[in-house]
Amino acid sequence: MSEALRDQFGRSIEYLRISVTDRCNFRCVYCMPAAGLEWLPKAEILSYEEIAETVRQLAPLGLRRLRITGGEPTIRPNVERLVALLRAVPDIEDIALSTNGARLEALAPTLRAAGLDRVNISADSLRPDRIAAIARRDLGFDPVRAALAAERAGLAPVKLNMVVMRGVNDDEVADFARLTVDHPWHVRFIELMPVGEMRELTFDHVVPSDEILARLGAVGALSPVAGPARGNGPAAYYAFPGASGSVGVITPMTHTYCGSCNRVRLTADGRLRTCLFGDHEVDLRTPLRAGQPLEAHFRRALAEKPREHALLQLRVGGLRALSQVGG
Ligand code: 5AD
Ligand code: SF4
Repeated sequence: MSEALRDQFGRSIEYLRISVTDRCNFRCVYCMPAAGLEWLPKAEILSYEEIAETVRQLAPLGLRRLRITGGEPTIRPNVERLVALLRAVPDIEDIALSTNGARLEALAPTLRAAGLDRVNISADSLRPDRIAAIARRDLGFDPVRAALAAERAGLAPVKLNMVVMRGVNDDEVADFARLTVDHPWHVRFIELMPVGEMRELTFDHVVPSDEILARLGAVGALSPVAGPARGNGPAAYYAFPGASGSVGVITPMTHTYCGSCNRVRLTADGRLRTCLFGDHEVDLRTPLRAGQPLEAHFRRALAEKPREHALLQLRVGGLRALSQVGG
């Protein structure tokens, strides 16, 4: 068997984020322009079989955990078929899905039956009018109903991700945190990254995690906890006394965790991206469609994985929207 995949800094790659579409039924202000983006033509998008083949070839090299992302993965038809294909790959231990939640109440049981382990739900507000304003769409999304549906279907642990924006939704931080007292949910507060083509949000809208934690301290005493068992990510977790769930912060703007980064991304058009920021991409679709083995291409991609990203230095737009690279 081949040696485990490691990049030039010794980081092993156990976790792959798989974007199944660049399209979305929302137009979140921090993610996309109101008019949407230029979508990829269908012929350029990997089929479910091609995605599964990529994972089959990566698993013997150490890949263990998967996350299905978009755009919005639940708008690609029959995404549960992909879940089932991935579930059948030996050695894959955890399959998660990131969703905006709008279709989750309808799909949770189907996704669970296909073999999905858990979901992360994006939820930036608990107020219907504000949800519609941030998403620039009114699809009747209710974060609490979506989380309950996921929990009932057995998609646990449920995580809710809130992008905190000063003057937009930061007055709801405490309301989200209180959900973790009675529900076994993990609410993560994400520092806004003012990147991509958005015009409405700037560095002034970023709320640093220290400030978020200070505000949570006013809700109740917080103690550090280990966090949900099956996490791959960079969140630090805390809990209120006796709470069923936990709160956490994800701090792309004030701390980098590049040193422990264990993830790579597969874009919907079949490119392997080794860093969310920057242009390190290796084309897998061409060798995949030519029936060639992918290992040499994986190794080339990893050789190019940068030590850390330059987001904090950049402070300019021009990067691809996160919906295009798989979040
Ligand atoms: N800043 C922070 N998080 C973002 N996401 C997308 N765009 C941004 C951004 N500009 C993340 C959020 C959202 C998910 C779909 O991607 O977590 O919930
Ligand atoms: Fe869609 Fe997620 Fe981007 Fe919102 S953040 S527009 S839900 S991809």
